[in-house]
Amino acid sequence: AAADEEYDLAVIGGGPGGYVGSIKAAQMGLKTVCIEKRGTLGGTCLNVGCIPSKALLNNSYLYHQAKKDFANRGIIVEGLSLDLKKMMDAKNTSVGQLTGGIEMLFKKNKVDYVKGAGKFLGPNEIEVELAEGGKKTVKAKKVMIATGSEVTPFPGVEIDEKQIISSTGALTLEAVPKKMIVIGAGVIGLELGSVWERLGAEVTVVEFSGAIGGLGIDKEVSTTFQRIMKKQGLKFKLNTKVTGVAKKADGTLGVSVEAAAGGKEDTLDADVVLVCIGRRPYTFGLGLENAGVEMADRGKLKVNDQFQTNVPHIYAIGDIIDGPMLAHKAEDEGVLAVEGMLGGHVHLDYNLVPSVVYTHPEVAWVGKTEEQLKEEGVEYLKGNFPFMANSRAKTNVDTDGFVKVLTDKKTDKMLGVHIINSQAGELIGEACLAMEYGASSEDIARVCHAHPTLSEALKGACQQTYSGKSINF
Ligand code: FAD
Ligand code: NAI
Repeated sequence: AAADEEYDLAVIGGGPGGYVGSIKAAQMGLKTVCIEKRGTLGGTCLNVGCIPSKALLNNSYLYHQAKKDFANRGIIVEGLSLDLKKMMDAKNTSVGQLTGGIEMLFKKNKVDYVKGAGKFLGPNEIEVELAEGGKKTVKAKKVMIATGSEVTPFPGVEIDEKQIISSTGALTLEAVPKKMIVIGAGVIGLELGSVWERLGAEVTVVEFSGAIGGLGIDKEVSTTFQRIMKKQGLKFKLNTKVTGVAKKADGTLGVSVEAAAGGKEDTLDADVVLVCIGRRPYTFGLGLENAGVEMADRGKLKVNDQFQTNVPHIYAIGDIIDGPMLAHKAEDEGVLAVEGMLGGHVHLDYNLVPSVVYTHPEVAWVGKTEEQLKEEGVEYLKGNFPFMANSRAKTNVDTDGFVKVLTDKKTDKMLGVHIINSQAGELIGEACLAMEYGASSEDIARVCHAHPTLSEALKGACQQTYSGKSINF
C-alpha cells in the first residue's frame, strides 16, 4: 500500500453528513478527501432512504388518486393499470441523477473521492479497501466520521429482502404483495406501508406502543394521524408485540403476535413482512480501537459541542451520534463541524430540527409537543386551525388535518408547531424560520400571507393564540 499525500481532512462516509461536510471543507480551503464504500455517494438517504421512498410515495399517491379520487373531480380514466417496473425505474432515475450530481459537485469543489471501505490504522491514518481491488492508505490531519446507521434487526427474524424485508427491500419489491405485515408504526412503517397499500396490498401495522408516528410525535397529532391512515385502509394493531415469523408450507408467512402486556397468541398471515423497528449506529469494520476513539451507549459515538470525539482531531456527525436520525440534521452538523475546525461558532438548536412524515397527508412538527410542555410545567396557549376552514384546502378538496400552535402564555413566544396537511413538510419551514428568530405568534399573525394558500392556516392558528380568536374559524 503506497502512502499518499496528507490531507487536511478525511471524511469517512459519503451520506448527507459526510458529503455536505466534505464540500463545505473544500469550499473553506481544506484539502479534503471523502471515502465511501457503497459505490455511489449520498449514503442511506439518497440510495435507500429519503429519496427512493419519496419517489415511490409521490407516484403511488398519483396512482391512488387516479384510481380512487379522479372520478370525484370529474376526471374519467379508463383502463387504468399499474406498471410497477416503470414506477421503480422512475425512482431509480431520480436516485441516479441525484447521486451522480454529488459526484459532479465533488469535482467542481475539488473534493477527492476514494471508493472503498475505510478503516483506521492509527489516529491519522486510514486504510481503504478499494472497491476496484487493492488497498490505499490515506493520511489526514483531521478525520470526520460520518458512517451513518443501519436497520435494527428483529431478534429471531432473518431479513432476506424478498419476503422478510427491511426498508431497503420495501423499495425494490418486484410485485405488489397481497398481504403485508409491517412491524413498527414509526416513520418507515407508515411511509412504506402507505406506498404498498396504495398499490394494492392489504397492510396491517403491528406496533408495540399505544401510538403511531414514532418518537417525538404530539399525542393529539398521532391520534388524528391514525384516524386518517385507517380511513385510507391501513390496519393497526397497537399495544401488540410480534413474537416470531415462521414460513408456512405454502410459502407464505405466519406472524405470531400477542398483547404487549402479555396474553393469548394470535397468528397473522402475510406474503411479505416489513421489519422497521428503528435504526442503529453503524461502525462495523471501522477500526475505532486503532485510533483510540471511544464509543458511548448503544454503539453511538460520543462527541462534545464541537463534534469532537475523545480524540480531538477526530470528529463525528450524523446518525452515528446522538439526536434525531435525519438527513437535514446530519447535513447541518457536517457544515458546523467543519466551520468549528476553522475556528467558527458551532451551534445547532436541536429543538428546532423539524420532523416530517411524508404520508398523505404529511405530518410535520418543530419545537415542543403538548406533552413536553406539560412535563416541563410550562404554561402555554394552544391555537388549532383545521384545514376544513382553509379556502385553498377546500378548493383542492384536500381538507384533512390542522395546524396546532403552542405558545408561551406570558410572552406569546412560539414553542411548538404541529401540522397535518398534504403540504405539511413545506409549510413547517415558515414555523422553523419564525422560531429560529424567536417570533411570537402575533408576529406570524401580522405577516401578510397570500390568499388563497394553505399557509393561511398557520396565520389562523396564531390569531387564536395571540388574540383568542381567528377570523375564519
Ligand atoms: P448515511 O446516510 O447512512 O451515510 C453513511 C455512509 O457511510 C453510507 O453510504 C455508508 O456506505 C458509508 N460507510 C459506512 N462505513 C464506511 C466505511 N468504513 N468506509 C467508507 N464508507 C463507509 N431522513 C430525512 O431527513 N428525511 C427522510 O425523508 C428520510 N427518509 C428515510 C427513509 C428511509 C427508508 C430510511 C432508511 C432513512 C430515511 N431518513 C430520512 C434518514 C436518513 O437517511 C439518515 O438520517 C441520513 O442518511 C443520515 O446521514 P449520515 O450521513 O449520517 O449517514
Ligand atoms: P422509528 O423509530 O421511527 O419507529 C419504530 C417503531 O417501531 C416505534 O414506533 C417503536 O415503538 C416500534 N417498535 C419497536 N420495537 C418493536 C417491536 N418489537 N414490535 C413492534 N413495534 C416495535 O423507526 P423506523 O420507522 O424504523 O425508522 C428509522 C429511522 O429512520 C427513523 O427514526 C428516522 O430517523 C429515519 N426515517 C426518517 C424518515 C423521515 O424523516 N420522513 C423516513 C424514514 C425513516
